[in-house]
Amino acid sequence: MFSLLRPLGLLTLLASSCLVGAQNLTVVDPAAACTALGQNLALENVTVNFAEYLPAGTNLSLSQGYNLSTCGRASQVVPVDLCRITMYVATTNRSGITLEGWLPTNWTGRFLMTGNGGVSGCIQYEDVAYATSFGFATFGQNNGHNGTRGYAFYQNSDVVEDFIYRGLYTGTVVGKQITNTYYTQSLSTSFYLGCSTGGRQGWKMIQDYPEVFDGVVVGAPALYFPALTSWSGTFYTILGNSSSDTFVSADLWVAVNTEIMNQCDGIDGVMDGIIEDTLLCNFRPEAMQCAPGVNNSTTCLTSAQVGAVRQVFTDYYGLDGLLVFPKMQPGSELLARYIYYGGTDFSYTTDWFRYVVYEDPSWDPASYTRADAKAAIDQNPFNAMTGNGDLSAFQKHGGKVLHWHGEADYIITSDNSPRYYNHVSETMGLPSSELDDFYRFFRVSGTGHCQGGAGAHMVGQQAAESAATDPQNNVLARIITWVEDGNAPETITGTKYVNDDATQGVAFVRNHCKYPLRNVYTGPANYTQPEAWTCI
Ligand SMILES: *[C@@H]1O[C@H](CO)[C@@H](O)[C@H](O)[C@H]1NC(C)=O
Ligand SMILES: *[C@@H]1O[C@H](CO)[C@@H](O)[C@H](O)[C@H]1NC(C)=O
Ligand SMILES: *[C@@H]1O[C@H](CO)[C@@H](O)[C@H](O)[C@H]1NC(C)=O
Ligand SMILES: *[C@@H]1O[C@H](CO)[C@@H](O)[C@H](O)[C@H]1NC(C)=O
Ligand SMILES: *[C@@H]1O[C@H](CO)[C@@H](O)[C@H](O)[C@H]1NC(C)=O
Ligand SMILES: *[C@@H]1O[C@H](CO)[C@@H](O)[C@H](O)[C@H]1NC(C)=O
Ligand SMILES: *[C@@H]1O[C@H](CO)[C@@H](O)[C@H](O)[C@H]1NC(C)=O
Ligand SMILES: *[C@@H]1O[C@H](CO)[C@@H](O)[C@H](O)[C@H]1NC(C)=O
Ligand SMILES: *[C@@H]1O[C@H](CO)[C@@H](O)[C@H](O)[C@H]1NC(C)=O
Ligand SMILES: *[C@@H]1O[C@H](CO)[C@@H](O)[C@H](O)[C@H]1NC(C)=O
Ligand SMILES: *[C@@H]1O[C@H](CO)[C@@H](O)[C@H](O)[C@H]1NC(C)=O
Repeated sequence: MFSLLRPLGLLTLLASSCLVGAQNLTVVDPAAACTALGQNLALENVTVNFAEYLPAGTNLSLSQGYNLSTCGRASQVVPVDLCRITMYVATTNRSGITLEGWLPTNWTGRFLMTGNGGVSGCIQYEDVAYATSFGFATFGQNNGHNGTRGYAFYQNSDVVEDFIYRGLYTGTVVGKQITNTYYTQSLSTSFYLGCSTGGRQGWKMIQDYPEVFDGVVVGAPALYFPALTSWSGTFYTILGNSSSDTFVSADLWVAVNTEIMNQCDGIDGVMDGIIEDTLLCNFRPEAMQCAPGVNNSTTCLTSAQVGAVRQVFTDYYGLDGLLVFPKMQPGSELLARYIYYGGTDFSYTTDWFRYVVYEDPSWDPASYTRADAKAAIDQNPFNAMTGNGDLSAFQKHGGKVLHWHGEADYIITSDNSPRYYNHVSETMGLPSSELDDFYRFFRVSGTGHCQGGAGAHMVGQQAAESAATDPQNNVLARIITWVEDGNAPETITGTKYVNDDATQGVAFVRNHCKYPLRNVYTGPANYTQPEAWTCI
């Protein structure tokens, strides 16, 4: 672990106001300790906005200034008694992060950093709150700018650098210092929880700062980010808009989804609306070809549409003949139709090319070609690709990474995760049996982007994705026991509630397999029972 400087004056002050025993990390007078923390914190580049003690149940109103309303987080209920401290941390003289720490009074000794999403710009307060409910001292940061768009990248590579890695790294270093300042005991173990861009951020730390975390949960990681962002821009050009002959209407995508299920749902042994291994699904859109002369159907595809749909489900190669990004996995159409297939540009792609790749706010996403993918991948600022397959330093540190990906992901195709896993295996020369010591990857069937879906999607990535029925059905609980007890997960368990409503009860539970294993229905019990499935 790296060493941290402690402001001694503050430690002395806190020691006199806290009675902390070896087995009891509870802060005795948390309101006074919190005020003292805010008043006395003296760390380089850190300007405290305020520190406030919040009792459990407080419904916090969050600042909506500086475009923060686009983050969609106006309030957050505080789950446990805690000290909230907010600050600005300068990373250069023209960039910096907004950082928050939530320090529970009843502390487990564990530290956790949360990640971000998309090209934001938003502290994920619900994740900060979620981790504090587990007793973590938890931090979140805005990744160097506010809001969900990329305007702030324009002509400021320092803001881009914060977004790619520095905001998270800086927030983690400062967060650990504050944790060790507030409590009189030093933190014991350090964790990270993130999905999507947050997943990429977690991998970035593992690759470049391998000693920062002991345990990392990464969902649906945005690995190979400039390539991902290029691929995300292809759909608008493949499908066009509602006046193009290649365009597929939202209704017609429902028919495509039905045909995909006809062709692929039974491969795992049961027709349950969930494709367990989408890598085995080689969808043939030609099966939906319309009769000659029909061009307005909601059940069949014209030749132009067949060609476009086939392209959506084909790996995307660059001008140099190398893979840019794998195909969209079949099975995600019901939501992808509103994101990528709706006849409009994708804002993350548009922002990345306008404000980072070309620094040209007038760049037109309809003009996108493979040459743009090459420009983005060649530019690769601060190694945003995040594709380093050598994890030996993290392995040596004793770190553990639990990687998962929903197999009905409609934003980052889940094919990208085995791509990286296999790359790590090849780079390190390790088979899965040895990667298992520190890196395990799980495919979560029927699950969308970080959340939701027809499958048993509740694996504990977020509070809203945590089934209350069994605390072990939770990736956050699993990473703790793996790191601290060496109890590594063989499967991760997901829950599906009836109509996704906990009050209506559990619809089914399924154990999701560790790659390269896949789930197969072996019976004899109903497919709704987890024991009816086997990882092979
Ligand atoms: C920790 O100590 C405080 C103060 O002595 C006490 O109120 C609290 O119940 C203790 N908690 C545990 C879990 O022992
Ligand atoms: C918290 O307050 C907001 C309004 O500021 C309200 O919309 C929300 O329902 C409240 N949440 C709870 C759980 O009371
Ligand atoms: C706020 O959002 C608007 C567009 O809604 C944008 O023009 C402006 O640059 C943003 N401001 C900042 C500081 O990001
Ligand atoms: C403070 O910020 C400057 C850049 O403005 C950086 O060089 C320095 O390392 C930072 N200090 C710490 C302790 O991070
Ligand atoms: C900001 O820092 C850069 C790099 O250290 C330096 O060249 C520049 O003069 C500084 N600008 C201001 C306004 O201090
Ligand atoms: C502190 O948290 C632990 C679980 O981490 C719980 O068992 C205990 O009851 C809590 N104590 C208090 C005083 O809330
Ligand atoms: C981001 O929002 C925070 C309020 O949460 C504000 O203090 C900060 O100045 C904003 N940062 C930028 C770069 O606009
Ligand atoms: C579709 O795209 C074409 C060419 O880019 C454009 O001229 C037309 O206005 C667009 N139509 C709609 C409905 O957006
Ligand atoms: C569909 O066919 C009709 C009649 O041939 C034609 O007028 C129309 O432009 C066609 N529409 C599309 C989207 O191809
Ligand atoms: C398709 O076109 C035919 C002939 O013009 C028309 O009768 C039918 O209602 C159209 N169907 C749809 C789904 O638009
Ligand atoms: C399995 O369970 C589902 C959902 O409860 C039910 O619809 C189905 O009929 C059951 N299948 C068998 C073979 O019992």
